[in-house]
Amino acid sequence: MKIEGKAFIITGGCGSIGGEVARHILAKGGIVVIFDLQSPEEGTAKVKTYHEERAFFIQASVDNSSRLEAACSEALKLIPKGSLFGAIHTAAIAPGRKWSNRLKDSINDFEKVLRVNAYGTFTVNAHIADAINSQYPDDGPFAPRETEERGVIINIASAVAHPVPARCITYGPTKTAVIGISQGMADFLGPYGIRVNTVSPAVVASSIMGPDRIPYFVSELEAGAIYPRRVSQPDEVATGIIFLIENSMMNDYELRIDGGWRGSSNWAGPKDPRSNALSLE
Ligand SMILES: NC(=O)c1ccc[n+]([C@@H]2O[C@H](COP(=O)([O-])OP(=O)(O)OC[C@H]3O[C@@H](n4cnc5c(N)ncnc54)[C@H](O)[C@@H]3O)[C@@H](O)[C@H]2O)c1
Repeated sequence: MKIEGKAFIITGGCGSIGGEVARHILAKGGIVVIFDLQSPEEGTAKVKTYHEERAFFIQASVDNSSRLEAACSEALKLIPKGSLFGAIHTAAIAPGRKWSNRLKDSINDFEKVLRVNAYGTFTVNAHIADAINSQYPDDGPFAPRETEERGVIINIASAVAHPVPARCITYGPTKTAVIGISQGMADFLGPYGIRVNTVSPAVVASSIMGPDRIPYFVSELEAGAIYPRRVSQPDEVATGIIFLIENSMMNDYELRIDGGWRGSSNWAGPKDPRSNALSLE
């Protein structure tokens, strides 16, 4: 399919990967509506640096279902009638706490990250799929469309979604959930002509990592990746996302972008390497 003239909602579009995907879509003549946490003034100022006419901002938290539903209605009014084609759901959090061996200290983080990353993914997919379908007559769910492609949703999981390493004890399982949600959504939305794919990057140079976590991950990639043994750039993730959007045969697929990194246990060694990890996330 061609991106030109089609509109995409990008959650977390003020962030590193979301912002990069926005720039790629805009360069191909598409329209983007960014949902993120910034104030309307801050967010609008940011997305207008992506494109003066074809980039819009709406403040919405992905863990707030009613706000998301309202944001989807607002988005439909901003873009040309019938042009909403998809979503790239990049919004997520990765809270960190100093390493300790008491697991119960992670319970509060788990509740928080589960709500944004897992519940948020389900809610974003549901509202955006409904918004895409609202542009068409309601002819019931079981009318498979062979030719009319209505849209595509891309969710972002992570290389640590499976297997989940110890240092990602709260974040990792929420990304496992993202893969499950994508699979269920792909099966549910197929008859509507909407595809759903997942991208699982390893470590990306981005704000979610924070500067203090990067050196630890660099050493992990150097030890565990096949090639290249380095942190990836947002552009290397964005181009994978664009491929999944443009190729109409790509559906229900998890694209790993990880230099062949298959993760590693954090404890198998003569010295406990967990002492190298700055934090649990
Ligand atoms: N950076 C990495 O190493 C890495 C690796 C694997 C997967 N990922 C995933 O890639 C995606 C993008 O991450 P990134 O690296 O661009 O991070 P980022 O921090 O640069 O961007 C995340 C964006 O999401 C927004 N956000 C956070 N909570 C939100 C909420 N409740 N509602 C709406 N927006 C919210 C933030 O404001 C930010 O703009 C995330 O899903 C992340 O888990 C990142």
